[in-house]
Amino acid sequence: MTHNRCLGSPPLRRTAGLARVNRMPDKSLKVLAVVGSLNKNSATRVVINHVAAELASQRCAVDVLDFLHQPLALYNPDSAHQLESYSPLKERVEHADVYVLGTPDYHGSISSALKNFLDHFWHEFAGKLFATIVASHEKGLTVTDQLRTVARQCYAWSLPYGVSFVDREDVREGRVVSDALKKRLDMFIRDVRVYGELLAAQRRADLSGTDAGFLARLRK
Ligand SMILES: Cc1cc2nc3c(=O)[nH]c(=O)nc-3n(C[C@H](O)[C@H](O)[C@H](O)COP(=O)(O)O)c2cc1C
Repeated sequence: MTHNRCLGSPPLRRTAGLARVNRMPDKSLKVLAVVGSLNKNSATRVVINHVAAELASQRCAVDVLDFLHQPLALYNPDSAHQLESYSPLKERVEHADVYVLGTPDYHGSISSALKNFLDHFWHEFAGKLFATIVASHEKGLTVTDQLRTVARQCYAWSLPYGVSFVDREDVREGRVVSDALKKRLDMFIRDVRVYGELLAAQRRADLSGTDAGFLARLRK
């Protein structure tokens, strides 16, 4: 599996300037931005790509994972870890300090595409930050809460709020159009960067230290 730089279709072209993970200095914040919709005209993808491009312009190393372009087999605990595609994906997940997770609201829940991705991993998420974006006509609060539950189960942190938006109002023709969403995303991007860096530094210190703490169990 190669890293998806999303250079193909028009809404994704905006991310052409995304920092390549391997070229970034080690100290930059590493963000894995996940598009949890398989819809080819997905509003979630537009917003994720907007956030990814902004974070890249603020010197973060951003990797966009889009299952439309890189399908991920349904998680099977007996075989998933043996698939050829698993190791490269695991590397990308391990490499990240922050996960920006985008999903549509499906019946008050996260999408199966995003859930499937999350099911493949757990301790890789420990001590890292989840930051969530939900496309919903109803604020997506239950969806946000579900992602917070996954974060807690995996010993990950989550931002104390989520972003939600309404597809046809906030996003049009492959762009974020509403000032309200742009403003909220500016705050989100700033918080991802600032809290992501703080948590990543503490995680590194905890992994190399000797203190008691929840990350002690992940020391090598
Ligand atoms: C199967 C399905 C279930 C949905 N359930 C809800 C729902 O419960 N609440 C809601 O607000 N929107 C619901 N929607 C609407 C989507 O969340 C909405 O259209 C979203 O913007 C789609 O995101 P996307 O363009 O990134 O795929 C549903 C859509 C589908 C296809």
